[in-house]
Amino acid sequence: MATYASPVPAPSGTTTPSGTTTPSVTATPSATTPAGDGPAWWRSAVTYQLYIRSFADGNGDGLGDVAGIRSRLPYLAALGVDALWINPWYPSPQADGGYDVADYRDIDPAFGTLADAQALLDEAHALGLRVLLDVVPNHTSDEHAWFRAALAAGPGSPERERYVFRPGRGPDGASPPNDWTAVFGGPAWERVTEPDGRPGEWYLHLFDPKQPDLNWENPQVRTEFLDILRFWFDRGADGFRIDVAHGLIKDPALPDLGDDVEEILGTTTREGHPHWDLPGVHEVYREWRALADTYDPPKVFVAEAWVASPARLAAYLRPDELHTAFDFDFVRAPWDATQLRATAAASLAAHDSVGAPVMWVLSNHDVTRHVTRLGRLEQPAGGAGLRSSTSPVDLDLGRRRARALLLLELALPGGVYLYQGEELGLEEVQDLPEDLLQDPTWERSGHTERGRDGCRVPLPWTASGPSLGFGTAQAWLPQPAAWADLAVDRQEEDPSSMLAFYRRALRLRRDVPGLGAGDATSAQWLDLGPDVVAFRREPGSASSTSGPHRWRCPRATCCSPATPRWTAPPARSRRPWPRTPPSGSTSRTDTRPAGCQSVGLTRPATRRASRGRQPPPAGRPRARRRRSRAPAPAPGRRCGRPRPGS
Ligand code: GLC
Repeated sequence: MATYASPVPAPSGTTTPSGTTTPSVTATPSATTPAGDGPAWWRSAVTYQLYIRSFADGNGDGLGDVAGIRSRLPYLAALGVDALWINPWYPSPQADGGYDVADYRDIDPAFGTLADAQALLDEAHALGLRVLLDVVPNHTSDEHAWFRAALAAGPGSPERERYVFRPGRGPDGASPPNDWTAVFGGPAWERVTEPDGRPGEWYLHLFDPKQPDLNWENPQVRTEFLDILRFWFDRGADGFRIDVAHGLIKDPALPDLGDDVEEILGTTTREGHPHWDLPGVHEVYREWRALADTYDPPKVFVAEAWVASPARLAAYLRPDELHTAFDFDFVRAPWDATQLRATAAASLAAHDSVGAPVMWVLSNHDVTRHVTRLGRLEQPAGGAGLRSSTSPVDLDLGRRRARALLLLELALPGGVYLYQGEELGLEEVQDLPEDLLQDPTWERSGHTERGRDGCRVPLPWTASGPSLGFGTAQAWLPQPAAWADLAVDRQEEDPSSMLAFYRRALRLRRDVPGLGAGDATSAQWLDLGPDVVAFRREPGSASSTSGPHRWRCPRATCCSPATPRWTAPPARSRRPWPRTPPSGSTSRTDTRPAGCQSVGLTRPATRRASRGRQPPPAGRPRARRRRSRAPAPAPGRRCGRPRPGS
């Protein structure tokens, strides 16, 4: 059992145990619009996911909130991301961390007010950060006005038609309408008590009983969600992440499923599944896309869709549907060069077939943090690795591998989603006290699945203070005491820290716009043996701007502690790079000098190449920074052989 950070009062100022005064997190507002300022910014954007409950607590109640996010916007701008995605912040009983929405047009009082949200949107935009919100269309909270009305109105009413109510089976209707099980465990049906006090119909909930599924065959539901999207678009939201995008439509016959098991992190391979990935969902998203395109610049969507194959995912990304979707195949890939490469190549090819960019992801609020996954001494295949587990973990190994995978995803064509805390190298907290677990999975699984709280532990901002600077009170979930060493203020002092590594990598990605940009053809896979993932980035498409780059990771760890190094372009090519085509031009062209043949694993380009997002953190001693740098390999030089066990 880990020890947890104790809620000792904060000393004034933040002084580390080593005696150094920590710099504050400051940033200069970006002078440029990130990830390109054209309407297709989302194709290569790096987006930072904010799990609002755990990011920063501004009002001292132990729960993250809008004020906390606003206070840390400079940190996010300094990190070098292009956009933010904020998990649900709407009024909610919080039965599922806010994914049980009671009112889609307001802010939960625990998080702030609508005015606070508006201020956040405006301030983020002023810093050059775009903001995506989270829309939850598959289900509402059981405390939503519509569901309350449905219960009150009784069977056969138009109010019930907005949800999926059915009579039960058996002589007295005492058995659920079919055998579907809920993702969080137990049956997917709950019986209601009718207004006259008698046991009555059942309603469908693919997740928790407090999350009744909406009936997307009902035109009122469709109109309502278009209106909700419009509400937030009009306030400046740049787009939406779509929760359970593959789940909205159900086979109206509601047939039994047999022995299929529901899993939040799994995908069914069953043909004609009655409630996942039905063709009808595409009609919904065509309507949403049409609405998004009425805005200038157009609004953007990213889908959470756990589907059976890259081709099934690509179907959501046809030109008149959604812009992007998370690539969960990449999340599920174990640390294995052959599988990583095959997964990435398959995703790129499928996305290319519809002209969409891949959205690479390593962690989010639903899966075991990747430092822990990658540090497991046994690498389980498929979705199994995403769940909590008791298998032995080497966190140092996991962090080295995490550095390597970050560079891989940042160098591939497409966009990247980062999950809060991964830039600090946070691990999954696997031993939270059972009485503190809040994920509904814990209760619904009969205490057999601990659920997802371990990746939702509040961030450590300072090495001391109550809740390690998360707020002024104890946090809603306790942080391991060892996270003091991972706190932002500590890492800002250390040029070899994970945070410094993320900042350098993100700056390099901006300096070399060919990273991220381009389609599958702009990455040419190189065969350097079964333990190596290597590719060369070529210009060659209208949107590709880089000289060739390759990334390699011999045997899961070339990636030795100092980890994969990138070879920077020759110094003469390191100059601010125009992100926007000159006026009148319709596409980016590669004007990089021909000598930019580069490659390989390098150290980041010098700060001279920075596009001005952020000055070096204040107070960092230059000499110390130099000392800690690993020696740069000769251009194109191979990394050393992997160490045993790495
Ligand atoms: C999505 C969310 C998850 C939530 C579920 C039900 O998978 O990411 O956190 O529990 O949908 O809304």
